[in-house]
Amino acid sequence: MSVTRSRDGLTGYVTLDNPPVNAIGRAMRAGLMEAVAWAEAEKLDRVIVTGAGKVFAAGADAREFDGAPLEPYLPDVLDAIERSFVPWIAAINGVALGGGAEIALACRMRIAGPRAQIGLPEVTLGVIPGAGGTQRAMRLCGLETALEMIAFGKPLSARAARDAKLVYALEDDPVEAAFMVNTEELLCVVPTWELPPPEMDAAAFAAAFAAVRAKLAKRSAGQVAPMRAVDVVEAGLSMEFAEAMALERSTFLELKGGEQSRALRHMFFSERAAKAPAGLPAAPELTQIAVVGGGTMGAGITYACLSLGLSVVLLETDSDGVDRARHNIDALIAQGVKRGRLDDSGAEALRARLVVSDDYDAAAGAELAIEAAFESMAVKKQIFAKLDAAMSPDAILATNTSYLDVDEIAAGIKHPSRVLGLHFFAPAHIMRLLEIVNGAQTSERALATGFALAKLLKKVPVLAGVCDGFIGNRIYTRYKEEADILLIDGSTPWDIDEAMEGFGYAMGPYEVQDLSGLDIGFANRRRQDASRDPNRRYIPIADRMVNEGRLGRKASVGWYRYPGGGGKVLDPLIEDLITEEARFAKVKRREIGADEIRERLVLAMVNEAADILGEGIAQSTRDIDLVTVFGYGFPRWRGGLMHYADTVGVAQIVEKIRALEVVDPVIWKLSPVLADCAETGVALADWSKPG
Ligand code: 3HC
Repeated sequence: MSVTRSRDGLTGYVTLDNPPVNAIGRAMRAGLMEAVAWAEAEKLDRVIVTGAGKVFAAGADAREFDGAPLEPYLPDVLDAIERSFVPWIAAINGVALGGGAEIALACRMRIAGPRAQIGLPEVTLGVIPGAGGTQRAMRLCGLETALEMIAFGKPLSARAARDAKLVYALEDDPVEAAFMVNTEELLCVVPTWELPPPEMDAAAFAAAFAAVRAKLAKRSAGQVAPMRAVDVVEAGLSMEFAEAMALERSTFLELKGGEQSRALRHMFFSERAAKAPAGLPAAPELTQIAVVGGGTMGAGITYACLSLGLSVVLLETDSDGVDRARHNIDALIAQGVKRGRLDDSGAEALRARLVVSDDYDAAAGAELAIEAAFESMAVKKQIFAKLDAAMSPDAILATNTSYLDVDEIAAGIKHPSRVLGLHFFAPAHIMRLLEIVNGAQTSERALATGFALAKLLKKVPVLAGVCDGFIGNRIYTRYKEEADILLIDGSTPWDIDEAMEGFGYAMGPYEVQDLSGLDIGFANRRRQDASRDPNRRYIPIADRMVNEGRLGRKASVGWYRYPGGGGKVLDPLIEDLITEEARFAKVKRREIGADEIRERLVLAMVNEAADILGEGIAQSTRDIDLVTVFGYGFPRWRGGLMHYADTVGVAQIVEKIRALEVVDPVIWKLSPVLADCAETGVALADWSKPG
């Protein structure tokens, strides 16, 4: 039952009831249509529509988007509500998003409760509002607010909605308040469709549209839906309401069937499906966490844990380390206050839950320790030995290593089953991804603890097996390797960065390296020296950069220059340096276009990711998609690396890799998973390990 209804005197009550979020599927649309007829037949003087539970309605049921639209269509249902002689009042008890907001906009009046939020986030699913949002919102709250809501998908709070006149009133009990509205007053309210579109002079209109398009070009580059939404709003200003609604609907339907919407829906549902695997035992309750190392990563993890109400014991090696760690946490707390995420008492509460110490015994009561120290096996082994001795045998011990062998770290302690990897991404209090690394001896209880922490911290957990770099850094290492090959063969850091920005990354690989520091990659390459295949092509340019002190932003010079610590500037010396290295390596540089750069880098990542899948390091392509989007900036609107590969088509990918394999069979060794998919015609998303 998606819609329930009842009456009390002349007041009809309609409740949207489709747990957990009252998504509007076919049954709810049909129920609403019936409710319109019922209210008219019963000659009610009003209908109050609200949502069951905490949500008003989360919008159209996106699970229906893969199929053809089913009658009754939402615009027709809302048209019937709006034109009924029985006025409807939306009592917005919680979030009203997308189609949920559109139901409210079609009502004669809207009263919001304190927890209400009203938004049109359709662009985040790659579509535009498809049931009047583009036309009704601007009639109620004016063009600029409507454009912001529609183009960027950010919801308004109850208060902001009231200030913008999107809702009539803000009340503690919106249903009761709707009941109390005077009937004559209600009947005087003009239905939204009859309101004129907003009026402004031509120059003001042009400025408003130019401003939003300029903002979109920066923030949503490559995405189709936001610009199309703005186009529809603009076109609607000079159309009859019905004509504008038809344009909105046809645009919505076109985008719903498009690649970007499919990709964004895939991400939406993948993110929500990222949970602990079925069958894991219950995790111990987490109240106190020990974090080892108060550098950038450790401080970020500490701050994230404190913010979610956990107590933290932050361990350092000596009193200088303790002072540094305290300073780093204080800086994060101050930043939280400055950005309005914390008030003074909240900041005090965080400090009260924190102990910073150089005595490991201070962590004796913690249920979980997360080591976030220097990336050195020797250092980590020492730390784990100390944790093993100081903490209860029940406590779980995690390493935040980005690359190192979790099994080797675990090997030195009494009960290696309590060790796992928890790979956070910097800044740890902001980045959503958490790789949960399952060592050879990791117990199910330890894994369950990792997933429980991810849930507490609202992270996206992805299970990974042990290998150099796990899922994300292993793919990223291959990406950087291929970028360096393009560099020496004829490209430049800025050409490569621009090409990948054109693909949808916020930053290309060289700007990212400048940000994180070139010394990190250097240390990794030295660690891998002993095991590197001597036949594998090695590009020494990045090593030379480090040897010359070009460490990136922190040195004011890296792949780019940052004069005075400011924005990046191209450095012609880099081109000389690359050309010189090419001469040493006897490489004849050639022109390499943006399309080739994008193709080679994406193919390199897909091939590596397919191996990761084949080796069981990742459990599914969906997990790889989550890692690439939430940890490495792969464009969400392309659906993650493997979803994108399936969109391109495995057969085409294999053909291209085979051509590259002819030139360099070591680096471009075709993944057996790709070969298998191409041969059997199975999509990567549907591939499973034989046997
Ligand atoms: N369609 C189908 N399922 C949905 C859904 C939707 N629109 N919104 C949420 N769900 C499902 C989730 O997949 C999840 O399912 P699961 O339990 O099986 O994993 C469940 O509802 C709970 O969702 P969340 O975990 O996200 O719950 P939260 O409480 O954290 O958040 C929310 C609630 C803020 C409503 C969030 O779910 C949300 O933002 N939903 C999507 C809103 C949206 O984008 N609406 C626009 C839809 S397009 C549209 O309306 C077109 C129209 O213009 C015609």
